[in-house]
Amino acid sequence: MSIAHGVRKAAVIGAGQMGLGIAFVSAVHAKVPVLLYDKSPAQIKSGLGLMDKILAKDVSKGKLTSEAAKEARDRVTVVDELKHFQGADLVIEAVAENFAVKEAIFRTLSSELSPTTILASNTSSISLTKIAASTIPQGKTANDPEGKASASRVVGLHFFNPVPVMKLVELIAATQTSQETLERARAYAIACGKEVTYSKDVPGFVANGLLMPFINEAIMMLERGVATREDIDKTLKLGMNHPMGPLQLADFIGLDTCLAIQQTIYHGTGDSKYRPSVLLERMVDAQWYGKKSGKGFYEYS
Ligand code: CAA
Repeated sequence: MSIAHGVRKAAVIGAGQMGLGIAFVSAVHAKVPVLLYDKSPAQIKSGLGLMDKILAKDVSKGKLTSEAAKEARDRVTVVDELKHFQGADLVIEAVAENFAVKEAIFRTLSSELSPTTILASNTSSISLTKIAASTIPQGKTANDPEGKASASRVVGLHFFNPVPVMKLVELIAATQTSQETLERARAYAIACGKEVTYSKDVPGFVANGLLMPFINEAIMMLERGVATREDIDKTLKLGMNHPMGPLQLADFIGLDTCLAIQQTIYHGTGDSKYRPSVLLERMVDAQWYGKKSGKGFYEYS
């Protein structure tokens, strides 16, 4: 028998492209109230602006009625502190791929929220087991009942960009995740309109374990002058029917995010096949982050 998600209220941390997308599918598909937090008010403003745009587009295309769009928009409430997430049954964190930042957030969530709240991370490569350990209450060990219970409600829910469009969620169990947490998180992803695959907690999981060496190889081909950026991308688009070539996709994901993921996988495995290219490192040094910053392998206005 399948387990119900039991989420009466969800909360999302981060109003960037991933967090906003997760809030969107939660409000539109799972139809639950959503609390949204971002430390940057400007990010909240642009995130909500994007949500209004996507809702309006879906109404104009007949995918949603204007009443359903209004109801979905009304389900989203912005909060200015994580402690206001109290009452949420599930929190999904979608901030930058940086363990220190995530660790601080999960520590706060664990001290502020009920021990039964499921704490999910949208991380694309970082160890869920390490994130789960950061929720062990101060003064408790991993083997104390409180320490075990706290870590057992942490899980990975890895969405894909653009979240409203991409049909997949990768589900990842930390070493400590309980079966109940895993099944409730799976049920929630399905309620958000997604199909779910499962990956073990290895650096990059299945998706980025495959995608990042592919993107990196394309960047190294560009670096070696094997072909132009256009021809590398065109080869994959027209030769293999990929919707975007690898360089265009890297710009779309964000070059800083690609580099962070590649570094996590490289350091986590020690395998040189995952070593980020120097060109990618230099582009990130130059603050060329791809589409979001107006410049990456291509220019965006
Ligand atoms: N939010 C909501 N909807 C969006 C959107 C967004 N940000 N961007 C595009 N769409 C919608 C469009 O409105 C359109 O909807 P309709 O079918 O209702 O008309 C549909 O998507 C197609 O969009 P377009 O016609 O504008 O453009 P397209 O056909 O070129 O598709 C794309 C755009 C869906 C992004 C497509 O290029 C694509 O699938 N690209 C690959 C994306 C991908 O691989 N994502 C995964 C990245 S990896 C990741 O996210 C995880 C990680 O850990 C790094």
